[in-house]
Amino acid sequence: MRNPRTFAVPLAAGAPCPPLEIPVKPARMIHFFDPSNEKMSGKLPELARQCDVLLGNLEDAVPVDRKVAAREGLVKLGREVDFGEAALWTRVNALESPWVLDDLMLLVGELGQRLEVIMVPKVEGAWDIHYVDRLLAQLESRHGVSKPILVHAILETALGVTNLEEIAAASPRLQGMSFGPADLAASRRMKTTRVGGGHPGYRVIEDPDPRDGDAPRRSAQQDLWHYSIGRMVDACAATGILPFYGPFGDIGDVIGCEAQFRAAFLMGCVGAWTLHPRQIEVARKVFSPDPEEVRFAKKVIEAIPDGRGVHMIDGKMQDDATWKQCKVMVSLAEMLAHKDPGLAEEYGLEGKSPEEAGVELGEAAPTAR
Ligand code: GLV
Ligand code: MG
Repeated sequence: MRNPRTFAVPLAAGAPCPPLEIPVKPARMIHFFDPSNEKMSGKLPELARQCDVLLGNLEDAVPVDRKVAAREGLVKLGREVDFGEAALWTRVNALESPWVLDDLMLLVGELGQRLEVIMVPKVEGAWDIHYVDRLLAQLESRHGVSKPILVHAILETALGVTNLEEIAAASPRLQGMSFGPADLAASRRMKTTRVGGGHPGYRVIEDPDPRDGDAPRRSAQQDLWHYSIGRMVDACAATGILPFYGPFGDIGDVIGCEAQFRAAFLMGCVGAWTLHPRQIEVARKVFSPDPEEVRFAKKVIEAIPDGRGVHMIDGKMQDDATWKQCKVMVSLAEMLAHKDPGLAEEYGLEGKSPEEAGVELGEAAPTAR
């Protein structure tokens, strides 16, 4: 049991109060970079203009002999590079690794609140979040950090998926969750060798033709990840945090990447990881709602200002439930229009800052109007 009156009380004397609401900001693409790679780091100012979030990766994909260089490189970049409107996040090493303690100690001390979100890999249960939560409070207190650093859990083990509701509710500091299909496949002993996406062997097939058993039968690939992403989206929506799809490893398959991102977007995810500059535009396209849909949603809201009753608009029934969906769509579009003048024009909307757009997460499901 936790005393609800202590939810917003810091976990260390002198640390800032944990947030009671998670800010909703554009995070359509979380672009991963290796801070030990100088060539990649040189491109950050340019990438910052294209991306909502830039994430300095310290975990998998950074070789063991470059772990220290990546950590120190991130400190240097976090201090020297102008990230403009892009947020700076990091993915620290896993909690059982020999590097994570130094990752957290150095980054909080040197970068403080310049780091908006810390992604924690391979989270298995609420206990992992409790550990990071308390340690961050102690470090924030020691270094005089005045804005709490948020925590993001990667869901990438069978136990993590089993415990995802408890993980989502483990701390007011939890900002969101990402779905990690590569480690999850390994943890589940799935018979795949991929990072996300479908598999040609995982499919449904129509029944045989009763008149001709040898006739070809239509068949289609199915989404391997649907069930777990659905559970993640529910756990996040239920606790007021944000769900994300993770990586898509086949960099050359832009169409497959778009399909995977779009399925996640339609199910409720707000963004995805991008591992290569080519995927940035895919994420921008997918996670910015379609202008036609936005125009229709706007029409519904204008036609039913109070959201009550049943109405027919363009031959489609609209009621309280569709009105709420339209509000989510228009609020997101207004927030994106604020950031991107091109989108403002396509949507025919005035941009609004996240605060003005009123996309506090609770508003996705208003109960009283
Ligand atoms: C991401 O880290 C994954 O394992 O998919
Ligand atoms: Mg992983």
